[in-house]
Amino acid sequence: RGAEGQAMDLAGRHVVVSAGGTREPLDPVRFLGNRSSGKQGYALARTAVARGARVTLVAANSELPDPAGADVVRVGTATQMREAVLKAAADADAVVMAAAVADFRPASYASGKIKKRDGQDPEPVVLVRNPDILAELSAERPRPGQIVVGFAAETDDVLANGRAKLARKGCDLLVVNEVGERKTFGAERSEAVVLAPDGSETPVPFGPKEGLADIVWDLVADRLS
Ligand code: CTP
Ligand code: CA
Repeated sequence: RGAEGQAMDLAGRHVVVSAGGTREPLDPVRFLGNRSSGKQGYALARTAVARGARVTLVAANSELPDPAGADVVRVGTATQMREAVLKAAADADAVVMAAAVADFRPASYASGKIKKRDGQDPEPVVLVRNPDILAELSAERPRPGQIVVGFAAETDDVLANGRAKLARKGCDLLVVNEVGERKTFGAERSEAVVLAPDGSETPVPFGPKEGLADIVWDLVADRLS
């Protein structure tokens, strides 16, 4: 046990956590982004350090302070996140994709600022798909026995959407959050359920993001041992 009586059940393990939201540039001053604050990923990184893991935090556009004891790799776009996550995953025991990765990016980048033209409507923004990092990790398992965890924010039939997404992605655990006006994005507290391919559902009570993080690490530690 560590300093505060914390179980050091991730000692000797390397875990990779992605956090924040990717930004996809249109021109030097504009981007397509999302509202992810990075809080959940940073909480996962802090709790993993407390449980003895070596932690690589791949952080996209978050303003939160670096978690003490974690190696922080800063990225901007989904493409950069993919490179950084795959590199860190090569020797990782677990990868947790808490980042909000942009599904699409502008098909082209204007190296100069896009200007208005008198009396003319703007050109439409054409988008292309970004790589799906979680699906790629799940399919390729850079290290045998590696545990891969995804996050999903869902509306409507949250559990059915979560089950379908778990199957589609092929990961070992999927943390499903219900999103609404004041839920999840930027919030300090959350409520979720963790789905596994064996059909199990682990409810996560409403509470601070550290609580959810510890439940994720409990489930990961079970699967690693
Ligand atoms: N994810 C990823 N790469 C992407 C998109 C998402 O690795 N290009 C990861 C996220 O980090 C998250 C999980 O996949 O852990 C689920 O993200 P989500 O946006 O819910 O899944 P999508 O397949 O993009 O589905 P949707 O169409 O509902 O956005
Ligand atoms: Ca998505």
